[in-house]
Formats: sequence, C-alpha cells, structure tokens
Amino acid sequence: MSPLLEARGLTTVFETRAGLLPAVRDVSFTVAAGEIVGLVGESGSGKSVTGFSLLGLIDPPGRIAAGSVRLDGEELIGLEQGRLRALRGRSIAMVFQDPSTTLNPLLTIGAQMRLALEAHGGRDASAMRARAIETLSQVGIADPAARLGAYPHQFSGGMRQRVAIAIALLNRPKLIVCDEPTTALDVSIQAQILSEMRDLARNIGTAMIWISHDLAVVSSIASRILVMYAGRVLETGPTRDVLSAPRHPYTQGLLDSLPAHATPGTALRQIPGSTPSLVDIGPGCAFAPRCARASEACASDPAESVAGNRRWRCHHPIAAVA
Ligand SMILES: Nc1ncnc2c1ncn2[C@@H]1O[C@H](COP(=O)(O)OP(=O)(O)OP(=O)(O)O)[C@@H](O)[C@H]1O
Ligand code: SF4
Ligand SMILES: [Mg+2]
Repeated sequence: MSPLLEARGLTTVFETRAGLLPAVRDVSFTVAAGEIVGLVGESGSGKSVTGFSLLGLIDPPGRIAAGSVRLDGEELIGLEQGRLRALRGRSIAMVFQDPSTTLNPLLTIGAQMRLALEAHGGRDASAMRARAIETLSQVGIADPAARLGAYPHQFSGGMRQRVAIAIALLNRPKLIVCDEPTTALDVSIQAQILSEMRDLARNIGTAMIWISHDLAVVSSIASRILVMYAGRVLETGPTRDVLSAPRHPYTQGLLDSLPAHATPGTALRQIPGSTPSLVDIGPGCAFAPRCARASEACASDPAESVAGNRRWRCHHPIAAVA
C-alpha cells in the first residue's frame, strides 16, 4: 500500500542577506494513514520549515528548491494556489506553536469554526454547529455548546491550543502537522494533551506529524521518529528502537541530555557546542564539530545507511545492539 504522505528529497532554501540558507536539505520520509510520526531536533534544525513546506506555506524569500511531496498520490510541490487552498484544511492541516496564528481574537470560536467549515463547502448551519460541538468535545472542551459563543481570550492557554487543534480537525483532514503546539504549556497539561491526542488520532484514524525540540515529548506520542539536524534527517526508525539503541551520535547526544537518562545528583549532559550556521554549511557532516566520533572521513557527506526500517547518516555509527 502506498503511504498517505511521501516526501522525497525535499529541499527548502531562503535568500538572506548573508547568502543562500538551505533550511531543509534533501529530506525524505513517509507517513502512513493513521500513523503518528515525531520530528525532533534542536532549535533551527528545520522542523517548522519542513512542516510549512509540506503545506505549501513557504513564501519569498523562501522557496522549495527541489523535491517532491505526494499526498495520497497527488504531487503538492508546484500545485496551483487554488488547489492547494482546497487541500489545506480538508486533506492536510497544521496546528502552530502559537494558537493566535490560527485564532482571530475578534471572532467567537463558533464563528471561526463556521468559517472553516464554509471554506470547504459547509452550508447547513445546524450541521456545521453540530460538527463544531463534536470536535470541541473530541479535544476535551467541557460544555462545548456553551463555549461556541466565547472569544479566544476567554480560554486558558491550554484550552486555546485545544480549540486550535479542534479547528484543524473540523474538516476531517487525513494528516495534521502539529508544530510544537504544547511547548508553551505547563508540563502536566502538556502530558494530558499528548495522551489525549494519541488516543484521538487512533480513534479517528488521522495521521499526525508531531514536531518538538523535546525528545521526551516526541517519544511519548510518536510510533516513529525523524531526528533532524542542520536541515537534514540524521536518523529515523521506530521510536522504541531508536531510543533503546540509537545508531547516530546526535541521537545519542539528545538522549543523554534527557533528565530520565541522567544519573541522579549529577548535572545533565548537554551536547557540547552549538548548531552550525547554515549559510556557509560545508560538504561534510554538519555534526562533526560537536561529535566525539568524528574522523577525517567526516569531511565528506555521509551517505544514508539502511537496515530494515531504520536509516541513519553517519560514517561511524554506534554499533547495533544484537
Ligand atoms: N523566513 C525565513 N527567512 C530566513 N531564514 C529562515 C526563515 N524561516 C526559517 N529560517 C531559517 O531556517 C532554519 C530552520 O528554521 P526552523 O524554523 O525550521 O527551525 P526549527 O527546527 O523549527 O526551530 P525551533 O525549534 O526554534 O522552532 C533556521 O536557520 C532559520 O533561521
Ligand atoms: S559522520 Fe562523523 S562527524 Fe558525523 S555524526 Fe558520524 S561520526 Fe560524527
Ligand atoms: Mg520551529
């Protein structure tokens, strides 16, 4: 069966004053129907730009320089704006880190939900109202009928983000890209929303790409993860396998900086050094300046290695656990 989403060689660049900035470099992955895929990496690794690229939301000075994104077999790169708008919301939707990107402060939640339904052919007022109530209750909003008349500022941060997720769900998209929607929230609320979203995705069969800089968050929700660094996917595989036996030194570094992996009473081990500037990124492995395993070989770009359902890009991968 062909995947729901297939990205191949996706490359997105920005023209900046300092030069051409390749934010996403040759990124390939698939998402199956109903699957939750996690996209993790430090700040600036290209997670959001990958998400925006999938939805055709890259505007000048940015552009998709190469690659293909197929949703249900339909090529999205180069698609004309009208068709893209029709797909956005109905087939593929996005939830942003800041709910104010989605929510209009001047309109009630009910009015915004009606507009989102009308944009994709909704006509019947009572059916649209019923659908709005249904999605609000799916994301855990109590007394949804009464809340339709409320304005965004009348909700707490966590509830506002739930409303933004409900709006993304309204037209029953096959895939939702969630860009750090819980990052700004209290840790316990974050955990609650994550477990609810996992159950919801399972129940309604929606696929998700869950973006976070936090490996713990991604591993709690996603069955498969993509580890991104400097615009590249450095490692991918089933979450459990990648976490129990990472092959890429960068993944190992992220794991070592998780509180759960630290020895009690000792300081957390951060990956030394900082992320490289992408404008003058060289041909070699971008992680080399921070990598304890680096050798002369790492001055050339590591090709992708594949074993079963795992992939990594490294000249000196960590040995597989037998
Ligand atoms: N509009 C833009 N113009 C120029 N450069 C941009 C633009 N948007 C993103 N970039 C650059 O692209 C790179 C990837 O950015 P991106 O926002 O995808 O990172 P991220 O992984 O989502 O980070 P974060 O965890 O901070 O959200 C960064 O170097 C960023 O500066
Ligand atoms: S290719 Fe070399 S520098 Fe890059 S992660 Fe592997 S060992 Fe480290
Ligand atoms: Mg981001």
